[in-house]
This record gives sequence, structure tokens and C-alpha cells, in this order.
Amino acid sequence: MASLTVLGLETSCDETAAAVVRGLPPGPGEVLSNVVFSQIAEHAPYGGVVPEIAARAHVEAIDGIVAEALAVAGCTLADVDAIAATAGPGLIGGVMVGLTTAKALALAAGKPLIAVNHLKAHALTARLTAGLPYPFLLLLISGGHCQLLGVEGNDAFRLYGTTIDDAVGEAFDKTAKLLGLPYPGGPRIEQLARAGQAGRYRLPRPMLGRPGADFSFSGLKTAVRQIVREGDFVPGDAADLAAAFQEAVIATLCDRTEQAMAQFRADFALRGPATLVAAGGVAANGAIRAGLARTCAAHDFTLEVPPVKLCTDNGAMIAWAGLEQAATGRFDDLTVSPRARWPLAHAAT
Ligand code: KG4
Ligand code: ZN
Repeated sequence: MASLTVLGLETSCDETAAAVVRGLPPGPGEVLSNVVFSQIAEHAPYGGVVPEIAARAHVEAIDGIVAEALAVAGCTLADVDAIAATAGPGLIGGVMVGLTTAKALALAAGKPLIAVNHLKAHALTARLTAGLPYPFLLLLISGGHCQLLGVEGNDAFRLYGTTIDDAVGEAFDKTAKLLGLPYPGGPRIEQLARAGQAGRYRLPRPMLGRPGADFSFSGLKTAVRQIVREGDFVPGDAADLAAAFQEAVIATLCDRTEQAMAQFRADFALRGPATLVAAGGVAANGAIRAGLARTCAAHDFTLEVPPVKLCTDNGAMIAWAGLEQAATGRFDDLTVSPRARWPLAHAAT
């Protein structure tokens, strides 16, 4: 089969993004362009993403971002084989903007449309970047998601664990807010934690040692809140508390990942080396990567982390997930609806 060229649009949260990707499964693919317009400045005053502001900002930016992605890739709509867009899960206003734009482009250019699941796009990014064969274990850690999945094919996922309350990125952002740091808090906490002594505070390690691979982070956030509200907490303590928080998160992520590793090996009868992919914005955290690398080394897993700009929300991952589907000859029709909720897989119980 000749290689495929796909335009991908991403608008499910606070990034308006478009990209053109070329290649064939299993990858790696070629990222011909990857344009990301971040709305962080617009949401920062509110300490988080405001859905109405996001939807309006997507409407204003999307046409220019698509034009730029095509121009950087040196192609026109006539040159692409399909147009892919995030159809969920995500903030519905934003998803509608991207999907409707993709439908209009597909109709105008006479190209097939592919409605992409945003989580699947994160899951398949390591194929775009490294040509990773199935199956692999995925730890998806972002502002909206926290899941451990066995990825066995373009449309085949096993859910090993998910968060029962906050996503890990959300926990970083809320903790940052408690410490007086601006949004998005993840990178700020990581930076501050470098100067801190984690041992000064004893924080809970939620779910540690429990069977299964589910996560919980709200107790950790509550513990941080209590410490911050205690009379003797001064701003100079923030680095130590950030370090303690990050250490507790790492312990939880590694413990849950170990549980999922065992389930994954059993499900796929894998005895030898295996691969863990860490994706999503939180995978940008160096201390978390180091913790996961230690866990991997102990269990004969190789850690694969896509480059940061492909770990956070982007159009290239949408284009690649679309490309994997296009290669199977399955397209979506123009009546496909945006979905606020769209789970990849249900727990195999
Ligand atoms: O994947 P992403 O760009 O958007 C979605 O949520 O889908 O992830 C954004 C999240 C935010 O919560 C942000 O605080 C977190 O990723 N994040 C980090 C780091 N960089 C981004 N969390 C911890 N450490 C980081 N270095
Ligand atoms: Zn995402």
C-alpha cells in the first residue's frame, strides 16, 4: 500500500491544533507539520479551562491553524487522503468546532472523514513516533485522563485501571493552585519540587498496595490543603510540600503500573521484554519518567515516552490515529456526532 497523508484537527480542550502526517501502520510516520495554538493565556486568570472561553477561542483560531498546517506541510486539501478530527471525549463545545470544521473541509474537498477518539490518539502516538508493535501497555496521564490500558490493536483496548476521582494532571493543577502557583500547575510543581525536601511532609499514597490498578488522587489533594491551611505554613515551605506531593504521586503511579504490568503479561502470555508507553501532558514530568523507568527496569519493560510536544494535545496524534483507521478502509460519514464522553474500553471484570 502507498503511504497515506492525513490532516488531523484537535480541539477537545484548550489547544487548537492541526497537523499533516504521512506514513503507514505500524509507523513510524512523518510529521509534515504540527501547529498548536495554546489557549493557556486565556484560561490562566481563572486557574483552569473555562469551556465557553475555549469554544469561542477554537472558533476564532481553527481556520488559520488549518491553513498554516497545510502550508507548512507544503500541501493542499487535494493532496490529503483523509481528514481526521477529534470527535470526543472532551469539552463538547470545542469538539463540535473541530469536528464541524473537518466535516466542512471533507465535504468541500471530496475527502473521507474520520472521527477520532482523543484517548486512542494518545494511545497510538508511540506508533507514529517509534513504530511500536502491538501489544503494549499504556499509562495515559493528562489533565483530563488517568488510565492504564493494554493496547492490542487500532480498535482493541483493555482497561486495567482508571481514576476514581481526579486525573493526575488535575491533582497537579489543584495542588499548584493551593500553593499559589499559576495554571497549568504541573510544570511549576516539578520545577519547585527540585528545590524541596520531600521527607519533610508525610502525605498519603492513595491506593498503594490495593488489588487492581485504579487510581485516586483527591485524598492527596485534601492532605495538601490541610497542610497549607495550618497556621504555621509559610510560602517558604512550598518547595518541600511540592516535592512531597510529587513523590507521593510517583509512588502511586509506579505501584498501579506494576499491578497493570502483571495483568498485561498474563493477558498476552508475555514472558520476555515488553513495552510501557507513558503519554499525556503529565508524562513530560522528568521525575515521573525516572520513577517509571525504575519500575520498568525491575519488570523487564522498556519505557517509551513520545517527545513532549507529541505527549501533550496536538493534531499529529489525531492525524496518525486517523491514518491507522484509513489504512483499514473504514471512514465515518458526515452525520457522525461529537461526544463529550467516549470511553475506549470498559474494565475487563
Ligand atoms: O495532555 P495534556 O496537554 O491535556 C489534556 O489534559 O488532555 O495535559 C495537560 C496536563 C495539565 O494538567 C498539566 O498541569 C500537566 O499535564 N503537566 C504536567 C507537566 N507538564 C504538563 N504535570 C506534571 N509535570 C509536568 N512537567
Ligand atoms: Zn489529551
